[in-house]
Amino acid sequence: MLAVIGALDEEIEWIHSSMEAVSDYRHAGITVSSGLFRDCPIVLAKCGIGKVNAAICTQMLIDRFEPDRLLFSGVAGGLLPNMRVGDLVIASHLIQYDINLTVFGRRPGELPGEDRMIESDPAMVNLASDAYDQAFTPGPAVPNLMVGTVVSGDKFISDQETLRWLQREFAAVATEMEGAAVGYTCRLNGVPFVVIRGLSDTAGDTARKDFDANLKLVCQNSYKLIDLLIPML
Ligand code: ADE
Repeated sequence: MLAVIGALDEEIEWIHSSMEAVSDYRHAGITVSSGLFRDCPIVLAKCGIGKVNAAICTQMLIDRFEPDRLLFSGVAGGLLPNMRVGDLVIASHLIQYDINLTVFGRRPGELPGEDRMIESDPAMVNLASDAYDQAFTPGPAVPNLMVGTVVSGDKFISDQETLRWLQREFAAVATEMEGAAVGYTCRLNGVPFVVIRGLSDTAGDTARKDFDANLKLVCQNSYKLIDLLIPML
């Protein structure tokens, strides 16, 4: 069975509205909807914003529902100059960029004894990329797809200096606030996962305004990929 997480109502509402035979459960303050998505059994939860909420929700779903794989879907800020709002990112790797043990000689994002890169399941990354190919036929108005490193931290990024640092230090393509915590929790539990993000903004000075203006539309658009992907997983 597949578990699906988003951080915000907007990030899960399209998935929720396509579910049938839904039963709701409440654990750790989180509402979990269990039911069928195009005949596939799934559990769906909104974790709330940030890495702590994301880790709690992921562990709770694993403990209570024993999913054999997990998908996170939501929005992010794009970090590369040629990226546009609406583009899609599949995280091949994730890093908790705000882990800082540099005073002990560690690289930013690195915990002792662990690789700072948290790898998404390669087979799920490939399936997500196939779903993109099926969902969008090439054309000028079609969102671009990037597969790359996504960084997560407990800050909404809206300045050039931080976005450049994230690009250069981590070779990251997008920034958000949950993915690496979901991935880290899945890695500890041996659950394969993938994180998919639509770009609501490009993490610069206008990010706040862009986020508000684009959130709903970007979620609706990235649902085109998610709708095809869920039955493939
Ligand atoms: N989610 C969407 N845009 C973001 C940004 N600029 N920073 C952090 N999380 C985000």
